Amino acid sequence: MRTTPKRFVKTFVVLTIFGFVVMNMSLFMTSERDTSSNVFVMQQPGGAAVLSSSSSHRPNVALGSVTVHAPNISHITSNKSALHGSASRYVRIGANVTAIKAYIAWVNSHQPIYNLDRFDLRSSDNTIVIVVQVHSRIDYLRYLIDSLRKARFIEQALLVFSHDYFDDDINELIASIDFCLTMQIFYPHSIQLYPNVFPGTDPADCARNTNRAQAIKSQCLNAAYPDKYGHYREAKYSQTKHHWFWKINFVFDRMEVTRPFNGPVLLLEEDHYVTEDFIYILLKMYRMKHNECKDCSIFTIGLYVKKLTYGAESSQVETVFWQSTKHNMGMSFNRDVWKLIRNCSKSFCEFDDYNWDWSLQYITMTCMSQRLKVMTVKSPRVHHIGECGIHHKGKNCDPAVKVHQIENLLKASAGNLFPPQLTVTGNRAAPKRLPKQNGGWGDIRDHKLCLSFASAPPR
Ligand SMILES: *[C@@H]1O[C@H](CO)[C@@H](O)[C@H](O)[C@H]1NC(C)=O
Ligand SMILES: *[C@@H]1O[C@H](CO)[C@@H](O)[C@H](O)[C@H]1NC(C)=O
Ligand SMILES: *[C@@H]1O[C@H](CO)[C@@H](O)[C@H](O)[C@H]1NC(C)=O
Ligand SMILES: *[C@@H]1O[C@H](CO)[C@@H](O)[C@H](O)[C@H]1NC(C)=O
Repeated sequence: MRTTPKRFVKTFVVLTIFGFVVMNMSLFMTSERDTSSNVFVMQQPGGAAVLSSSSSHRPNVALGSVTVHAPNISHITSNKSALHGSASRYVRIGANVTAIKAYIAWVNSHQPIYNLDRFDLRSSDNTIVIVVQVHSRIDYLRYLIDSLRKARFIEQALLVFSHDYFDDDINELIASIDFCLTMQIFYPHSIQLYPNVFPGTDPADCARNTNRAQAIKSQCLNAAYPDKYGHYREAKYSQTKHHWFWKINFVFDRMEVTRPFNGPVLLLEEDHYVTEDFIYILLKMYRMKHNECKDCSIFTIGLYVKKLTYGAESSQVETVFWQSTKHNMGMSFNRDVWKLIRNCSKSFCEFDDYNWDWSLQYITMTCMSQRLKVMTVKSPRVHHIGECGIHHKGKNCDPAVKVHQIENLLKASAGNLFPPQLTVTGNRAAPKRLPKQNGGWGDIRDHKLCLSFASAPPR
């Protein structure tokens, strides 16, 4: 049957009307639920129909029916009137630190979820929680959000932004997101909020390069706690590990909405960029766990490659022991794995390394009863577009160039995205040596602050 323009128009009109009816049904269901109880209970799929019709240009792909970890965020107990806030009504706060502190305390305790008027907090087998660690680079974040918008199944995700820098422009950008449920959480001990006192830089702190004898003589605050290389802490380098650990503690143990959720929690950063099939691939990998790698606990969809390709390896994964430098980008795990990490909080927080990923590798090798194993892609579904971060001081810092390259490659390889089947091709040996300590984490105040994040009663 050929699709004549007329028939096409007719189909379009019918689909539009159908979409409209379904949307109204789902709105009706939402408002009916509003008046019932203070607990969200899973409803029949309604909103999903609206969503899939709005995304009908996407490849028609189906996920396997085997569900190993059916995510379920169906009932939450938070205050509903607070939850029904709409992010588009964001009111700018400005730079008044007192006002910012009050605002973030409110947000962290009320935990408003945005776009509940469009998307149900309904569990589905395709639901994942995505947590994006955000600092201040709004240009990168904009690209990440654009890439998330285009991704298959994004409408069923809960997208959480965790901030260590308060910025009205960033908040407005997040408020403009209309393609899934979103939340913001704010790391409350940021340097921005405490510039002249720990965890910021106290004027009485020892300078990085003061030698210890000199430091003790001058009685600077942390004289007794240089790192293993004899250097004193630098606040801006400590913040990332603190934020990382605070954020996963918060997402798993302090957020109401994730309380019953045991599905994948994917960790991204503001300068990442995802492919259209990233959720599809991640879910497929989780569904392979049962048959292909029972002891896999981390699932990683990012990869550092010299030459980016999407050929045959687009449908290949490998299983290997988790290694910080290889598997830290686009990594995900669920609550069971979180419990193993949390059990080793002390080790994590006292290991003299300001990198969260090296600290994590250290605890997997020294504290956990079993090393963590990862299932990882061979063609990356998460790209790192921010070459100008803390460690990389490249000349070309324009994310547009990088995004353009990635998009061109993805367009040329479109046929290899959404592979119907994934195969395990490698099972490599474990690294034996312990990571060397990078230092920067000798200060007992850092150890204590870090440990305080894990003090919430375990669930
Ligand atoms: C989600 O959890 C609720 C309450 O525990 C349960 O009634 C429902 O069947 C679950 N849904 C799925 C898809 O497992
Ligand atoms: C729920 O939140 C609203 C808005 O913040 C507040 O006015 C109300 O008192 C809260 N209700 C409860 C039971 O906490
Ligand atoms: C900062 O905000 C607080 C709380 O909203 C307010 O009381 C105070 O007057 C503000 N300070 C300035 C300098 O605007
Ligand atoms: C929990 O941590 C302790 C050390 O603090 C370790 O001996 C134990 O093996 C850990 N448990 C698991 C399940 O990893």
